[in-house]
Amino acid sequence: MRFLTVLFFCASSALLFAEEEPHTTVETIYETVTRTIVREVTDPIQSDAATVVIVESSTVPATTTVAPITVVYGTAEPGGVMVAGSNITEITGPLRMCSCDEASVCRKESANELNTCFESCNANTKDFGDNTESYLECFTKNNATIIEAEECVSSGMKNYCTVENDTKFIKNNDWKALTGFDYASDAKKEIKDNYLWKTYEPKYAKLQNFFYCTRHCIHNKMNQCTKAKGCGVRMPNHEEFVSTMRSCTKKNNKIAQATMATCQCLAWQKGVTDLRGSCVYMGNNYYVDKA
Ligand SMILES: *[C@@H]1O[C@H](CO)[C@@H](O)[C@H](O)[C@H]1NC(C)=O
Ligand SMILES: *[C@@H]1O[C@H](CO)[C@@H](O)[C@H](O)[C@H]1NC(C)=O
Ligand SMILES: *[C@@H]1O[C@H](CO)[C@@H](O)[C@H](O)[C@H]1NC(C)=O
Repeated sequence: MRFLTVLFFCASSALLFAEEEPHTTVETIYETVTRTIVREVTDPIQSDAATVVIVESSTVPATTTVAPITVVYGTAEPGGVMVAGSNITEITGPLRMCSCDEASVCRKESANELNTCFESCNANTKDFGDNTESYLECFTKNNATIIEAEECVSSGMKNYCTVENDTKFIKNNDWKALTGFDYASDAKKEIKDNYLWKTYEPKYAKLQNFFYCTRHCIHNKMNQCTKAKGCGVRMPNHEEFVSTMRSCTKKNNKIAQATMATCQCLAWQKGVTDLRGSCVYMGNNYYVDKA
């Protein structure tokens, strides 16, 4: 891990200590303040180190009379001058939040990788049989299974990018956790003990595992794209994201129909006999909504 040459300065030290002697160095801040939250600043995701400014705010314990201090870290400018960001409205971490323009470009780019993602997840279709190459067509032909689910995920994300001229800094996302989980059924009471559902649920889960792999792949592409732009979008925490992914697997007629069509294509055109007779359940709104 590469650490930045870290420069500190207290933006408002003159103001903070106006009543006392003026303090200008970070050492004097340490003397006055018993607890500053100064984290190691790792090399941020960035495309241009010279222009990145990382800002972190630290709160002074209530027992002291000193006002909160904002410590501004920055990479060394070529000329040795530290430039504090202007119009910084929120500081909660080292990663610059993408503008909504940047985020939208990356969303489009990652969505266009759908077929690449279907292909890269194709190893999962071994679960259906040996003709894995031929199965792919069933998924690409019925891509609403992914497209609709992904639109649902992104439409539910609020405040994940910044509007023009509004610079925010966010925590790094844990992409490993956000893209590393499998589909898990959470069947509602009405179908949980239903004989038919119990029989077909494992097959439904196999399809969903493939869909999840593909969706994680698209999310990883999104992360790569924003990373290349030196920014990140604000993602929900792991639990929230898991639940969003799950709810965006259902409650949509197009998803249910595309799931059924995928299943029928596999069962009848690609010879996955195991799926014959089950597609009507795994593509049925009644079951999908409650799965
Ligand atoms: C800060 O934002 C305001 C409007 O939001 C703009 O007028 C001003 O020029 C910006 N300041 C800087 C230094 O970018
Ligand atoms: C989804 O499938 C439709 C119809 O086959 C196709 O026109 C479209 O380009 C596909 N979308 C993506 C993102 O691959
Ligand atoms: C954002 O900043 C640019 C240049 O600094 C300015 O031209 C533009 O009007 C600003 N937009 C808003 C919404 O403040």
